[in-house]
Amino acid sequence: MQKSSSAILRNGLTFLKPYKKQIVIASIALVFTAALTLGLVQYVRVIVDRGFVEGSTESLNAAILGFVIVAVLQALGTFARFYWVSWLGERVTADIRKAVYSHIIELHPGYFEDNLSGEIQSRITTDTTLIQSVIGSSASIALRNLLMMVGGTIFLFITNPKLTSVVMICIPLVIGPIMFFGRKVRRLSRSSQDEIANVGAYVGESIQQIKTVQAYNHQQYDDRQFSTHVETAFKVALSRIMMRSFLITIVMTLVFGALAVMIWVGGQDVINGSMSAGELTAFVAYAVIVASAVGAISQVISELQRATGAMERLMELLEAKNEIAAPENPKQLNGEFRGLLELDEVEFCYPSRPETPALNKVSLSIQPGESVALVGPSGAGKSTLFDMVLRFYDPQNGKLCLDGIDIRELDPQVLRSHIAIVSQQPTMFTGNVWDNIRYSRPEASDEEVLAAAEAAYASEFIDKLPEGYDSYLGESGIRLSGGQKQRIAIARAILKDPEILLLDEATSALDAESERKVQLALEKLMANRTSLVIAHRLATVMNVDRIAVLDGGQLIAQGSHSELMEECELYAKLASLQFAEPRISEVTAEAVSEA
Ligand SMILES: Nc1ncnc2c1ncn2[C@@H]1O[C@H](COP(=O)(O)OP(=O)(O)OP(=O)(O)O)[C@@H](O)[C@H]1O
Ligand SMILES: [Mg+2]
Repeated sequence: MQKSSSAILRNGLTFLKPYKKQIVIASIALVFTAALTLGLVQYVRVIVDRGFVEGSTESLNAAILGFVIVAVLQALGTFARFYWVSWLGERVTADIRKAVYSHIIELHPGYFEDNLSGEIQSRITTDTTLIQSVIGSSASIALRNLLMMVGGTIFLFITNPKLTSVVMICIPLVIGPIMFFGRKVRRLSRSSQDEIANVGAYVGESIQQIKTVQAYNHQQYDDRQFSTHVETAFKVALSRIMMRSFLITIVMTLVFGALAVMIWVGGQDVINGSMSAGELTAFVAYAVIVASAVGAISQVISELQRATGAMERLMELLEAKNEIAAPENPKQLNGEFRGLLELDEVEFCYPSRPETPALNKVSLSIQPGESVALVGPSGAGKSTLFDMVLRFYDPQNGKLCLDGIDIRELDPQVLRSHIAIVSQQPTMFTGNVWDNIRYSRPEASDEEVLAAAEAAYASEFIDKLPEGYDSYLGESGIRLSGGQKQRIAIARAILKDPEILLLDEATSALDAESERKVQLALEKLMANRTSLVIAHRLATVMNVDRIAVLDGGQLIAQGSHSELMEECELYAKLASLQFAEPRISEVTAEAVSEA
């Protein structure tokens, strides 16, 4: 649902609240400089009437002195105004960026399935920049000119009411188009920013996956797609600019038309002596001030409208509800934490597939210190089960308990502090080896990191890297092989030293020799820890206490290897096919025929 712009603006204004003092300073400077500019014209009137027309040197000198003093004050005021207004713009933008990021980073992972990362990035960068320019300049331009417009009009009345009344009749003619086109600009601005965000998302994805893009000669296709996005963005921007141009043209024409009428009528008055030359000069000066104020306002008003569009998008992000939040009064894991993990009739469908359950009434209990292997065909729901344990999603029915407490009653931070995961695609972050292993425990000492790397059999390849542990791994660890990334991820888990361990095919990218070593390391790691291992190899299933077989989201059997070989047909088949590591073609043929 779309919120009204006033509601959005009100939310945006909360970001200004902490800076009342700065706003007061900026406002004083704003009023002060506007008043001085208007006052300056009075000196112009005196200079013309006394100095030029009457020829009094004395009056001219005094008036000039006054003029200079006012001008200097004006300059000082302008400094304060510019500094503090820009300060506010930068400060508020920084705050909005921080608020959006810290909100986003806590959101449930499901949120990011519908909202592309590139688009979110674009909102945090481009949209906030727009807001910065508005608070840091457009808003102050609008305010200053509003003051000038009102003040100038008052002085116009004082100087010559008759003339002014003529001009005032024109005002509704000016306001009308501003309102009409302004609304259009706002709508177009929103879609223009949306298009820019699309462009950003597109670039992000293709650059991250550059090898796949080039391997499939997808560049030209991507190029065309990208061009389409850019051209759409251009077209939307063009219609926005068109509206703006109309707006400015109409306002300018009206304003200068009114000005011409005024000077003509006033000129008659000066000719027949009912008005002094100074008065007419002042009158015209005020009229020009008022006219340019109106012009300036009509220009920045569309800027303000654009910013409202941007604010709308940012507020949408800020108001996105976190579906996996800590409860009001989270339960504590009191006393000694044991690591008893129980799944009770867990039913779960991914939000995008509400009809097909990824987990169907899964009940599984893992005793403290026990290790359980999860086996099952691809797509059976093994990784999904890990996501449930980490509470990335909540089940639609049933519950997961840790030491007897429903994990929904725990603070997710507390829950996750007891779990370490080595996922199917080990994730590296921009940084060096130290940073990546320390990811799980930033305060760990160098010795602890070295020991963890040693235990994960990672040190042997790290030592061979050009700069050892200081080697920079590139974005997402692009400078490492798959197996190396896995060992770093294992070292990371070892360093965390959790009570509960989740391993998702943690040794799949290793050669037989390294696998054996890592297997040893994992065994050490799994000892006396509640462990759930997604296993595709016999070596793994042989070392665990129990094996659970998952198929199509259902837990169909559990037991030891030999028990399952006899009782579970699927397991026997999996074991003979996968664990025995047959020729790849056989497995593929089997998988194809199954699908
Ligand atoms: N984010 C998602 N949104 C919708 N459906 C999903 C999502 N992630 C996985 N699925 C679906 O849920 C089912 C279980 O997926 P899951 O990743 O748990 O399988 P898996 O057992 O780990 O398979 P594999 O051995 O291939 O890793 C699959 O049918 C998959 O298509
Ligand atoms: Mg998986």
